[in-house]
Parts: sequence; structure tokens; C-alpha cells
Amino acid sequence: MDSVVVLFILLLRPGLRWTAAAEDMSWTYTGLVGQSQWSEHFPECGGSSQSPVDVVTTQTKYDPGLPPLTPLGYSQHGNRPFTLYNNGHTAVIELPDWMSLDGLPWLFSAVQMHLHWGSGGPSYGGSEHTINGQSAEAELHVVHYNSELYPNMSAAMTQRDGLAVLGILIVTGEETNPAFNNIINYLSRVRHANQKVFIPAFDVQSLLPKDLDRYYRYNGSLTTPPCFQSVIWTLFHERVQISKAQLLKMETILYSSKADEADRMLLQDNYRATQPLNHRAVFTSFAADSGKELSSG
Ligand SMILES: *[C@@H]1O[C@H](CO)[C@@H](O)[C@H](O)[C@H]1NC(C)=O
Ligand SMILES: *[C@@H]1O[C@H](CO)[C@@H](O)[C@H](O)[C@H]1NC(C)=O
Repeated sequence: MDSVVVLFILLLRPGLRWTAAAEDMSWTYTGLVGQSQWSEHFPECGGSSQSPVDVVTTQTKYDPGLPPLTPLGYSQHGNRPFTLYNNGHTAVIELPDWMSLDGLPWLFSAVQMHLHWGSGGPSYGGSEHTINGQSAEAELHVVHYNSELYPNMSAAMTQRDGLAVLGILIVTGEETNPAFNNIINYLSRVRHANQKVFIPAFDVQSLLPKDLDRYYRYNGSLTTPPCFQSVIWTLFHERVQISKAQLLKMETILYSSKADEADRMLLQDNYRATQPLNHRAVFTSFAADSGKELSSG
């Protein structure tokens, strides 16, 4: 997907030669085309409805009309393997299109899921969204497109209400989370960018928190270039837990460089800084005093 978008943008920039421009367009989180430069190459990254955001719980608004979210078919993974790949920015798992989401104004079909992480422990961050200024250690995103209004992901991703992404904050504790081993155990097979493998299909719902009724909802964007402002975000209130060993693997196995590149670059700190809310509201599906609950959790 990235390369398609990059090609599209290149075609819009006459006078730039393909090879020179291709290098110009390979964005990263830090460095020359780091996140503070994204908007020079991808104008939407400088827009006013960007993601991620810091959720300030005292400034959220309870919306009693927000229904529980129901994943459909997440547990019916079938016999066909999933595809796992390293795109140089994260590890992506493609999802079958029978997985979908109920509880939004339209039906959204699953496309892929991927992770964001840091480089060593809580004080260094790792999640993209933060709650009351606090990061979690990692974050899982399950990406869906509006299959009621659009024919596919590429058509939907540029449209308002085109995408719905579930954000799951990941923290560490003592216990291993066996669901996450369905991904983590195979990362060593896609260490370098552009590597791709089949992995056994598994129950995707087992990666999600148990409580899907309580969440934050706002309108935002893709958190990577081209940062299209097309995402209905759902950030779950309940966080999931993995072990410190599981987090360490996630943080240290992958490279952002390709196998034939001389300089190996560890794929770490692949999270974007929180963006200004500007005029936007963050709604909650629950009325509880969330600030109090969070500090005990
Ligand atoms: C997505 O849908 C559009 C509009 O129907 C079509 O032109 C395009 O080829 C489709 N893209 C893919 C990747 O299927
Ligand atoms: C998102 O934007 C749409 C308009 O496209 C609006 O109807 C909706 O209420 C907004 N949702 C949130 C959570 O702000």
C-alpha cells in the first residue's frame, strides 16, 4: 500500500526523477524525513484532524448513543494461513475480509492489523495514543474500511468515514499473553523489510480486551504518511497485558532495513507523537469517572 501511494504522489510531482524522488519519499520516524518533516512531503500530515491524540479523560464527553462494538467473524479464522510482513515501518498481518465490525454507522470490513512499540520500557513510550499524558508500552491497530460505501481499502482510505481503526493499548505484566505469541513467535521470519511469510491463522478476537463496551471515539487520521484524515477511531478503555519478554522480542527482532542493505537499522520507536485535538471532541461510550479508574488499573 505504501508504495502505491508513493508512486501516486511521485506522478503528481513533475520534474522529479523516479529514483531520486523514491529516496526522498521513504519516510521514517526520526531523521531526515522524520515525523516533523512528514507534512512537507505528505500535506495531510499537517492537517487539523491528525492522530494519535492524548485523551484527557476530564475533557471527554459521554455519548450514551455509542453502542457496544461487536467484532464479527474475528474468531472464525478458517484454515487459510494469514500473511505476516515487515513493511519497514511495522509488522503487518493481512486479515480476511469476512472479519468485520458491527456497532458503527456502516459495516466496516477488516483489512490488516499492525503494531507500534518503543525501545525499552515504560518511560520510553511505545503506544501512539496516550491517556492523560501517559503512554502504554505498545499499541495494536486493527484497520477496517467502510465496505458499505466503498469498493475497497484504496478507495476508502482517502474519504471521510472511509476507515475504522481499533486501538488497543498494550502494557506489560508478569504473565505471558498466549494470543500475542501467534504474532510474536513468527517475527523472526520477517526480520528484514519486505519479507513476508504465511503464519497459522488464529483467533483475532483473543488479542482484544474483554470489555469492548467501554471505549473512546474520535475522528482522526492514519498515523503514518500519507496521514489521510479518514479514520473513525475507537480506543478501548481496557488495556491488554503481555509479558516483558514478549515486549522485548517485539522491540528487538525486526529491522527497518532490507536484507541486502549493509547498514542494519533496528525497527524501534515506530510511534508518532500525539497531535493537537484542535476543534475535535473525544467521546466516551461510558459514564464512569474514568480518571479514577485508570489510576487504579
Ligand atoms: C478499488 O476500487 C476502485 C473504484 O472502483 C478501482 O478503480 C480500483 O481498481 C480498486 N483497487 C483495488 C486495489 O482493487
Ligand atoms: C465525525 O465526523 C462526522 C462528520 O463526518 C460527524 O457526523 C461525527 O459526529 C464525528 N464523530 C465524532 C466522534 O466526532
